[in-house]
Amino acid sequence: MRRKIVAGNWKMNLNFQEAEELIEDLLELLAEEEELKTEVVVCPPYPYLELTTDFSEEKLFHVGAQNLSAFDAGAYTGEISASMLASMDVTHCIIGHSERRKYFNEDDQMLTAKVNQALAHDITPIFCVGELLPEREAGEHFKTVRWQVRHGLFHLDTAEFSKVVIAYEPVWAIGTGVTASPAQAAEMHAYIRTLIDERYGPEMAEKTSILYGGSCNAKNATELFAQPGIDGGLIGGASLLAEEFVSICKQAQTA
Ligand code: 13P
Repeated sequence: MRRKIVAGNWKMNLNFQEAEELIEDLLELLAEEEELKTEVVVCPPYPYLELTTDFSEEKLFHVGAQNLSAFDAGAYTGEISASMLASMDVTHCIIGHSERRKYFNEDDQMLTAKVNQALAHDITPIFCVGELLPEREAGEHFKTVRWQVRHGLFHLDTAEFSKVVIAYEPVWAIGTGVTASPAQAAEMHAYIRTLIDERYGPEMAEKTSILYGGSCNAKNATELFAQPGIDGGLIGGASLLAEEFVSICKQAQTA
């Protein structure tokens, strides 16, 4: 059985007090969900990580970072290393988000270095892939995602790859309110699984968790998560609302 995972990517939102309030609300709501098996991951901005890991001692959610450095340690002003994150009980990290690819010029070489850093410090990479709208319109979405998956992850050996979570986030669906249709998402998830099968074999393809992201919310989550290859979500805007986020976590379990 594949792990069902819902990760909340807060992006660059909320001040400290708002973050504290959101964490408290999440804890209160999650504490009521004793049967919840979904792996819940909260990915706040760096300055709130410690606050979040302190609260996560109650084990109601895991804490993820939104980024990490491609470098190990040393004179890299402004960077945050995987070892720092690991030492703060950060267990997951989003890598290769389209916003980082676009605004911070993160290329395949940098992303493989980041994936390697995460794995070297026992941090689960949530590796994001997804096509731009013109690529989908040109029928090139499979080609784009194939490139991203192959060049971001396929240097890993089997043991390393088994620790990776993939998130399919079509860029045109992020923050736009336009979600991929369940069929479009399912089709791409199935395609990603065939790529994993070709490289690592059917067992790995079967057990890799692949999340969907892009305008996923409490209203459309069940329909998306009900698709056979969709194992949960990477949630942006809707992760800033405690009730909505917890509802999505519940839907991942029951869908
Ligand atoms: P939205 O849910 O706001 O569309 O963002 C998705 C996303 O980018 C999560 O990483």
